[in-house]
Amino acid sequence: MAKQILEDLFGQIRDAAASGDRSSAIRAVLLESQSRKDDLAEAIAELIADEIMVFEDETCSIWTCRYSSDVVFAPHEHCMGVHIAVYRGAEVEVLYKREPGKLRHGGNSLVKAGDVVRLGPDAIHAITADDKQSIAIHVYEGPLTRIKRSLFDWTTGEEVEFTMENFHAMARRKANMVEFK
Ligand SMILES: [Fe+2]
Repeated sequence: MAKQILEDLFGQIRDAAASGDRSSAIRAVLLESQSRKDDLAEAIAELIADEIMVFEDETCSIWTCRYSSDVVFAPHEHCMGVHIAVYRGAEVEVLYKREPGKLRHGGNSLVKAGDVVRLGPDAIHAITADDKQSIAIHVYEGPLTRIKRSLFDWTTGEEVEFTMENFHAMARRKANMVEFK
């Protein structure tokens, strides 16, 4: 059972996701939540796992996400918009475009504590933390685990079915990656 401060936030997000202008309403809730970012970070830090799906229905999926700075999870799509609110540390969104036979690195985007960003439905990203653990909430604009979506081979860009098992198996060490040179 998450702390009350998290339960309250999850409730606000669910209400926002059920409203008419889902994307703007979710963003507004996450921006407002940054006024409590230290307390939210502390509550997420105490959860039992690094990634937890705390809620999902047709309107949204809510995940708590802690990433470490030495591991980069493989490129993947969401097929829906996602809002990322970082409460501690910084996430690095390693962005890619698909080209025939490969993935093209499109740059790294730093999302720092206090920031809220949205990636569109066509985005492909790999994900890691900057120089220390990052703590964030990711809110997807739909039922993330109920859709078919893909991971992409780092080298060839070939599609691999998205499962949490494949997601973790395809992770790389940041120290070995040209994207961080
Ligand atoms: Fe993602």
